[in-house]
Amino acid sequence: MKVILIPILLLTSLAFAQIDPKFTDLQNCRACHDEQLADWSTTWHSRTSEDKNELFSSLLTYTSKITHKARAEVNLECAKCHNPRLSIDKIDKNYIYAKAFGLETEQTKEIDKKLHSTQTQNGISCYVCHNIDHIKDRGSLKEYGTDLFTWTKGDLIVGPYDESGRSIFHKNDHREFFEDSNTHCNSCHSGNANIGNLPGYETGEEMAGHDISCVDCHMGSKKRGYIAPQIAIENAPAKIRDIKSHLFAGARNSDILTTAISLSASENLGNIELLVQNLIPHKVPTGFSGRSIRIDIEFYSSDEKIIKKEYVNLRAKFLDRRGEEAFSYVATKLENDTRLKPLESKTLVLKKPSGAKYLRAKANYYLVAPELQGLLNLVDTTFTKAYPILETKLELN
Ligand code: HEC
Ligand code: HEC
Ligand code: HEC
Ligand code: HEC
Ligand code: HEC
Repeated sequence: MKVILIPILLLTSLAFAQIDPKFTDLQNCRACHDEQLADWSTTWHSRTSEDKNELFSSLLTYTSKITHKARAEVNLECAKCHNPRLSIDKIDKNYIYAKAFGLETEQTKEIDKKLHSTQTQNGISCYVCHNIDHIKDRGSLKEYGTDLFTWTKGDLIVGPYDESGRSIFHKNDHREFFEDSNTHCNSCHSGNANIGNLPGYETGEEMAGHDISCVDCHMGSKKRGYIAPQIAIENAPAKIRDIKSHLFAGARNSDILTTAISLSASENLGNIELLVQNLIPHKVPTGFSGRSIRIDIEFYSSDEKIIKKEYVNLRAKFLDRRGEEAFSYVATKLENDTRLKPLESKTLVLKKPSGAKYLRAKANYYLVAPELQGLLNLVDTTFTKAYPILETKLELN
């Protein structure tokens, strides 16, 4: 008897089944939720994936080089939070070797297609947040994103409202995590994506003990209105609803930075005291560990010349095993963390240089700290430029 060996691809698992194509084409939401789609399109939730985010893409390459892992393997780890609908379960050795030798096989083609599919590249889209059926209680911060989610089936969309009988395009239902939305947000905004036990993303942990919701600040203030009022269904009239902005306000698409800190200067017995206050209940800066705030202080003489410059960094500094500055994903040590703790007030004492008539202090925000920019070759200045937060001036005696 002739035995025929049939190779079975166990690579993609059915648990990651395709999403209804009417959901992956986000333009389909426009007819009834134009506002939500327009807002979301300006946010960085729409650019969490490698084809749309140069910083993320560079960090995949960087992390893969330093950890000697295949780039796609690193991508898969990050995808738990950055591309939760990436439909690849795991990447095996055949793929890794084929890629290392530049070979194109059926398998590499299939995986690469999935990595770059619309479904993946849409990032944290409507069919991420509104297709989560259930969020598991987590054992530790080592579980995050897709470790915690199960997805809704068919065309069920979940959100803050009960089943309304009004939607004709998709079914709808209520899920509790839209009331306590911090659990939802923190399934990705708190999680340890770093090696060992170095702190990773901890925005949720930072807020422990503060009874306030992420959406209160990041999804704007509520407004009242009807959703899809053009749909008239007998016995199911449109209800007036609270509608949140889908801006997920951040440094790039809003002026939220100006509400983060205050800065003032005073003179005390020949010393200058610079007071920086964090006005919010999570760290400033928070989130991605490469962020920084730099306060530049310039002392001027009476003829408007700068006679001295100093600066203070508010950021976390990570080192790799050689003791050099590194991004957190590959770091083995947290050297120091000068970010402002929730609601912290920090007084920085500076010596007054002789001949100084006044000083200017300016706080700028960086998506990637200037000290780290040299580790990557970023072209898009969105990631490298300074975002001015505020400044203050003090006349000296
Ligand atoms: C990061 C998660 C997230 C993403 C992505 C997201 N939403 Fe939402 N959405 C929410 C949350 C949270 C609420 C409930 C806000 C509240 O009332 O507290 C909500 C509420 C809604 C509502 C109810 C009305 C309102 O605006 O409050 C609609 C409709 C909606 N979303 C549509 C969309 C559409 C369409 C997209 C894609 C363009 C989308 N959402 C993407 C989290 C998300
Ligand atoms: C033909 C109109 C229509 C289209 C197209 C449409 N929706 Fe809806 N959607 C509705 C109606 C109607 C409701 C119920 C509103 C209510 O009860 O006030 C709704 C409710 C929602 C809610 C809130 C659900 C809840 O239970 O809280 C979300 C989230 C949502 N839609 C997302 C989407 C997304 C994502 C798309 C695109 C894939 C989409 N919708 C396409 C009509 C539509
Ligand atoms: C499935 C994972 C996931 C969930 C759930 C999630 N986020 Fe995010 N969020 C991300 C990722 C990844 C980014 C980084 C985006 C990028 O590439 O810049 C991000 C970025 C952000 C930013 C920064 C925006 C900017 O301009 O840089 C804010 C603010 C934010 N999220 C708020 C929220 C809030 C509020 C919720 C809950 C309603 C939420 N997120 C839910 C993964 C998630
Ligand atoms: C009291 C208002 C407030 C609350 C509540 C709040 N934030 Fe923020 N958030 C801010 C401000 C202001 C900034 C800008 C300063 C900074 O980057 O730390 C910010 C920044 C961020 C950033 C970085 C934005 C960027 O451009 O990269 C993320 C991510 C974020 N918040 C997530 C969250 C999450 C998740 C929660 C809930 C666990 C939350 N925030 C609760 C006000 C708030
Ligand atoms: C626990 C969930 C989680 C994991 C795992 C994760 N991230 Fe993130 N990532 C986030 C969140 C949430 C943000 C948004 C924080 C902010 O805006 O400051 C973010 C932001 C970023 C940013 C900033 C993007 C921008 O547009 O400014 C980069 C770059 C990034 N992550 C790279 C990675 C890489 C590389 C990996 C894998 C090695 C990874 N992340 C793993 C949750 C995660």
